[in-house]
Amino acid sequence: MAAFGSVFMPEMTLAQFDGQQWSNPQIVSSNSINLHPGAHVLHYASTCFEGLKAFKHADGSVAIFRMDKNIARMQQSSELLSLPAFDAALLEQMILDIVRHFVADVPTPPGSMYIRPTHIGTEPAIGKAATPTVNSMLYVLLSPVGDYFAGGSRALRLLLEDNARCAPHMGMIKSGGNYASALRPTMLAKQQYQADQVLFCPQGDVQETGAANFLLIDGNEIITKALDASFLHGVTRDSILTLARDLGMTVSERDLTVDELLTRATKPGAEAALSGTAAVLAPVGTLIHQGKEYSVGNGQPGTTTARLRQTLNAMQWGQTADKFGWLTKV
Ligand SMILES: Cc1ncc(COP(=O)(O)O)c(C=O)c1O
Repeated sequence: MAAFGSVFMPEMTLAQFDGQQWSNPQIVSSNSINLHPGAHVLHYASTCFEGLKAFKHADGSVAIFRMDKNIARMQQSSELLSLPAFDAALLEQMILDIVRHFVADVPTPPGSMYIRPTHIGTEPAIGKAATPTVNSMLYVLLSPVGDYFAGGSRALRLLLEDNARCAPHMGMIKSGGNYASALRPTMLAKQQYQADQVLFCPQGDVQETGAANFLLIDGNEIITKALDASFLHGVTRDSILTLARDLGMTVSERDLTVDELLTRATKPGAEAALSGTAAVLAPVGTLIHQGKEYSVGNGQPGTTTARLRQTLNAMQWGQTADKFGWLTKV
């Protein structure tokens, strides 16, 4: 199986904003965009994107998971980046059009069709570092993906860092610049500690990793940072917390310090996990802090993590009732 996100469907939907209005979306070749080298996005990073998935069900139908949430988050990212606004209905139509176009190519579970809406500032204007782009382009790419955890879900190693992932007012924006700022610390953590990810904990405040939210599971309680502007408001995070409440668990959305995390995570039976569209819910087995390694529980993937992951997957794959109305049939 090719690396996650490295295979694309040959066509995508595209709409352009000319400063006045949005064009009607069209299905075009995936390598057909024309960008001026002075485009705003290439210099001043006026870009945001989304990641969501379409799943094939046993009856052959295809359903998109929580599309409304991802569209709302992309509208918010666009607003906070001063990119042109668009209607939710426009992006919804673009997603539905392209998923319907390639409905026969949606992989069966545990695979899925990863959907990547992208919004970029296209105005050729290198003098506009502090001025928004007038023109922009919205497109929806598709990438068929397999199981992120092919080969078994190994418990991950996280390096706890005292730094922030990105500027504190940017955390809730899904924008390329935030990933750029997390890249080097993540590479160094891999080289120096064989860590899979960095868990960013500025001033001891446990936030998130470079591409997923962090959850501590202690018995019947799930603890995760309450929503604020400093980190990405994951759709998977929200889904897992909703399912956990529904299963009778206690959900505590509040600040978690590194000290409390290290104390509670190392108790027998404790679990930790990363949530995200790509990884679903990935078990964390080791926390590395100031050169010392701490096993989470017994260091192995936890049973509550596995149960929550299975519960979410069963709903996405149409194996259990869609009791929260999260699926849109295409
Ligand atoms: C930085 C970051 N945090 C959290 C998440 C999880 O968000 P979601 O569950 O919406 O995929 C992602 C994306 O996948 C991310 O890139």
